[in-house]
Amino acid sequence: DWTPDSFVEETVAKLQAQIGNDKVVLGLSGGVDSSVAAMLLHKAIGENLYCIFVNNGLLRKNEYTDVLEQYKGMGLNVKGVDASARFLDALAGISDPELKRKAIGRVFIEVFDDEAHQIQDVKWLAQGTIYPDIIESVSATGGPSVTIKSHHNVGGLPDFMKLKIAEPLKALFKDEVRRVGASMGMDKALLGRHPFPGPGLAIRILGDITPEKVRLLQEVDAVFINGLKNAGLYDKVWQAGAILLPVNSVGVMGDERTYEKCVALRAVESTDGMTADWVNLPYEFLQKTSNDIINKVKGVNRVVYDISSKPPATIEWE
Ligand code: XMP
Repeated sequence: DWTPDSFVEETVAKLQAQIGNDKVVLGLSGGVDSSVAAMLLHKAIGENLYCIFVNNGLLRKNEYTDVLEQYKGMGLNVKGVDASARFLDALAGISDPELKRKAIGRVFIEVFDDEAHQIQDVKWLAQGTIYPDIIESVSATGGPSVTIKSHHNVGGLPDFMKLKIAEPLKALFKDEVRRVGASMGMDKALLGRHPFPGPGLAIRILGDITPEKVRLLQEVDAVFINGLKNAGLYDKVWQAGAILLPVNSVGVMGDERTYEKCVALRAVESTDGMTADWVNLPYEFLQKTSNDIINKVKGVNRVVYDISSKPPATIEWE
């Protein structure tokens, strides 16, 4: 019978036999899959696992510093690489969603390849690929577990893609990955994190991306997500986030007329992201969240809630 404990035991033994004293590089994304894969490898080979956590400048508010600290606290041999400026430069002036994904994927590969080259004699690339990633390619672009599969063949493969591949989670579903993480004593909040797309906030900022828009959306998103947590709703929702619309609308503040940004909130129930229903969040919660966003985030004067299911609407707006 499959149990998380026996999976951990067998997988650690298998990884040790496979990898021996070789060095392994792994890209952490802050998400459940790459984190659990890292813990398994850490158990198996300790300091020979070299983790890289890239800040693409499109993560949630404080996510880069908080998650990096958390990884260090877990004993992982992890290097944080803040490449925000490189990503934002590459995205400047781009509005098309697929071009955004391509730019992000390309810069990620460049940054990751540079970092992998700094690890002397690295032999393996480990990834948090899970079974649904293999059968579909929905969650596939932009993030560490991901870029390997898609696009980019300019000038041949980057060197890190020529490494031997270790994918200890590739037979598991998400709920099994969470149980494996729990059996290794990993933090419940980390294991319960909502999915977050590799291209991050870039595909939740409709139109072109500027550092100011990223900061604004980070603030809005933080109010929404913290609100869900405080109201005990976070774990009842499969995924949630805020979208910055390329729309200004008229408002009033005191006796001033305002002409400011509109944000959309999205929260969905799903099991695999392939289909999804919008969540019937309590009106009181939506009311408070809307007030909090408009009061706390300068530049936003209107909040709307997305009541579209997938299909036909996708979870992300881009
Ligand atoms: P959609 O928007 O297609 O999203 O309904 C389904 C799930 O996939 C995530 N998503 C992505 N993940 N790179 C990723 O790593 C992407 O380019 C990407 N696009 C969408 C989305 O957040 C949802 O969980």
